[in-house]
Amino acid sequence: MKNTILVIIILVAIGIGAFYITKNNTKVPETYTPPAITNTTTNTPQPATTTPSSTPPAVPTATTVTVSIKNFSFNPSSLTIKTGTKVTWINNDSAPHTVTSDSGIALNSATLSPGQSYSHTFTNIGTENYHCTIHPMMKGKITVTK
Ligand code: CO
Repeated sequence: MKNTILVIIILVAIGIGAFYITKNNTKVPETYTPPAITNTTTNTPQPATTTPSSTPPAVPTATTVTVSIKNFSFNPSSLTIKTGTKVTWINNDSAPHTVTSDSGIALNSATLSPGQSYSHTFTNIGTENYHCTIHPMMKGKITVTK
């Protein structure tokens, strides 16, 4: 009888031990899983922070510069801009004018009556010299930088 009781006690002890081992083993993965989730959550805002940083390059693209045509001249006659900048010429004069490249066809406006405007977005680095075909003495220059 004593042996039987001992065996039962041992079996119970083993059972309790197995219970705690199982319980602890179950807890361990649960404990390790949350940090993995926490790390993923922490990493997510970082790309989100990087995205706004890459937004500023889009700002120069939206930049618009105006050149006023008045008193038979382009104002300013010399202008430096960054690539992606849109330049708009507005004829604020009493006579018609054009915005025409000295060479090439980058700038090739129709005849602009007073009040009319012409726009061109500069995408290439370099210098664009232009004039008015009606008044060849009217000269202008756009310098495009990176
Ligand atoms: Co002119």
